[in-house]
Amino acid sequence: MKGKKIIVGVTGGIAAYKSAELVRLLVKEGANTFVAMTRNAARFVTPLTFETLSNNRVIRHMFDNTTAPLDHITWAQEADLVIISPATANFIGKIANGIADDFLSTLVIASTAKILVCPSMNSQMFANAAVQVNLKRIAERGYVIMDPAEGELACHTEGKGRLPDPQEIMEKVRFLISGQDLKGLRILVTAGPTVEPLDPVRFISNRSTGRMGYAVAKAAGRRGATVTLVSGPTALTAPRGMMIYRVQTALEMKRAVLDCSAEADVIIKAAAVSDYRPRERADQKIKKGAETMTIDLEKNPDILAELGRTKRSNKPLLVGFAAETEDLLINAKEKLQAKDIDMIVANDVSREDAGFASETNIVKILYRDGTQEDLPLMKKDEVADHLLDKIKDLIGEKE
Ligand code: C5P
Repeated sequence: MKGKKIIVGVTGGIAAYKSAELVRLLVKEGANTFVAMTRNAARFVTPLTFETLSNNRVIRHMFDNTTAPLDHITWAQEADLVIISPATANFIGKIANGIADDFLSTLVIASTAKILVCPSMNSQMFANAAVQVNLKRIAERGYVIMDPAEGELACHTEGKGRLPDPQEIMEKVRFLISGQDLKGLRILVTAGPTVEPLDPVRFISNRSTGRMGYAVAKAAGRRGATVTLVSGPTALTAPRGMMIYRVQTALEMKRAVLDCSAEADVIIKAAAVSDYRPRERADQKIKKGAETMTIDLEKNPDILAELGRTKRSNKPLLVGFAAETEDLLINAKEKLQAKDIDMIVANDVSREDAGFASETNIVKILYRDGTQEDLPLMKKDEVADHLLDKIKDLIGEKE
């Protein structure tokens, strides 16, 4: 978000406090963040909070700044994005009807930037016909509305009306300010481990958390690709705006991937698929008995290798991952060739900063033409974007 100018408009709802975290996250990602508050917003959170977090002055009133009386115009026109968070029923009503009676509503009317509106209110208020008509109206004019979340509300009731989590708003923000450079591309991503049951309560699996695959799926979606995510069991929140198939075993993953593969331009196999599964699955819990026990395993199909065998000339582009604990490059090169894929992302999972559960990764990317790229330690989100840049280049070369 470096170099982007983002305005956060805070209106007078209890969720105003969550916007403090939103501003912190925007600043952390490098956005030049400005906050404008309505008079009532300042009753919930002080302007000083936002001033401190944004490192910029907060404007509340039309005539706050006598030296630059046209702030509402300059702010509005220089902004890449305006986020109204939270957006009260009153404020939504004002912008739907062209009312400009304070700094923030005037700024919204003067703005040529994208406007993201995050409604937050009591569920009855949200369901009210006037609010719904107003939302529909502003959506028709191109405002982006973020659907409120369901859950416990400040008025001690449950329902739809909660301001989404700041991290979720951030994901939407990243989507809105990204160049949508992958629009038109259909990307299938697999993520997470597979679990192979032994009996109703036990299974064989691995330490994959799904973080890398989810980061790739989210980044691709944000950049405008049509994404299908086939996920093994993970504790991660399902990304919005994509088709998600949840699977447990390698065989289920294979079925889901093959069902979707004909429609994919790119398949990124970040999942850590179990190489073997128990030959037998006991119907009842296996009882403790002898001192030793042997589990008979049979090989799972190699989904990626199968895709490599069946692929037509250059479609779909196939990307594999090689998680290794030794001989990283030798093993990764071997897999690239054996599975007949276009690129492979090799990572040494024995490292603390690059393993399955880590937020970061240190990877090497190997290409079919023999070239290799060694990336420094990066966040998984950054690795995901880099990978997608490279995929875009490869597709460009092939066309
Ligand atoms: O051979 P190995 O399992 O190390 O290769 C890893 C790559 O192959 C990953 O991209 C993984 O998703 C894929 N794979 C697969 N089916 C398997 C095993 C691995 O698609 N049964």
